[in-house]
Amino acid sequence: MSAPQEFKPRILGFLCNWCSYAGADLCGVSRYQYPPSIKVIRVMCSGRVDLEFVLRALSNGKDGVFVGGCWLGECHYVTEGNYDALSMMHLGKKLLECAGLNPDRLRLEWVSASEGNRYAEIVTDFTARLKELGPLGAGEGMDKKTVNLKLEAITRILPYIKLVEREKLRVRFADKAGYEAFFSSDQLNSLFRETIGEKLAISQIMVLLQERALSTGEIAGSLGMSASEVAKHLNTSARAKLVRFDEQQKRFALA
Ligand code: FES
Repeated sequence: MSAPQEFKPRILGFLCNWCSYAGADLCGVSRYQYPPSIKVIRVMCSGRVDLEFVLRALSNGKDGVFVGGCWLGECHYVTEGNYDALSMMHLGKKLLECAGLNPDRLRLEWVSASEGNRYAEIVTDFTARLKELGPLGAGEGMDKKTVNLKLEAITRILPYIKLVEREKLRVRFADKAGYEAFFSSDQLNSLFRETIGEKLAISQIMVLLQERALSTGEIAGSLGMSASEVAKHLNTSARAKLVRFDEQQKRFALA
C-alpha cells in the first residue's frame, strides 16, 4: 500500500515592489532556504491588494495568502497603503472566520529590502502553520464545493462590504496592535454582525438555492448553520422578495 502523500501547502504571495519583493530577491540571492510553497505576484504597494484578489486566490486552490509590505511609516506612497493593507487583511480574516474558514490562512508581514532572512523565516513559518491547518476546506471539515460556495457568497457582496469598510471601518492606528485591538473589540464584532454577518449568511443561502429548491433543514445542513438561524434569514429574504416558498415541493427557491 502506498504511503499517504504529504500535504504541501500552496501559498500566493503579493509583495510590494519597493520592500518585500526586494527582500524576497535578496533572500534568493543570499541562498537562504525556505519551502517552495509560495508563488509571488509583485504589486507596487501592499495597499494595492484588493480583497477580491485574496478570494480569487483561495477559490483557485491556494491554501493561504501572504501579503508583504514596507514597515509602517516606510511606505513609498503618500497615501501610506500599508495601513489600508492592515485593515483589508483584518477584514478578510473576519470574513473567512464568518464563513467557517480559518483566518490564519491570511498573513500580512512587513519585510524591508534588506531583510532577506526575515522573508525566508516568514515563509517557512507560514508554510508550517498551513501544514497544521491542512488543505483549504479539508482542514475546516468542508468539501471543495462548500468552500467555493462560501467564497462566492463573499465575492458577491464585496461591493457592499467595501462600502461598509469605507464608511464604518476605516480607521488609522499607529501600529499593528491598534488594529488587532480594534478588529477584535466587542464594538467591531457587533457592528460586523449587524452590517456584514447577516448579508453574508443570506448571500450563502442565495448561492446554494441557485442549484435547486431546499428545505430549511437542508440549507442548515449544507451551510453548517442552525435551523433557527436559517429560518430567520429566509424570512428576511422572503420579505425582500429574494426567495419564495414553493408549496408543491415544500421547499424554498429563488424568487
Ligand atoms: Fe511598500 Fe506601500 S510601497 S507598502
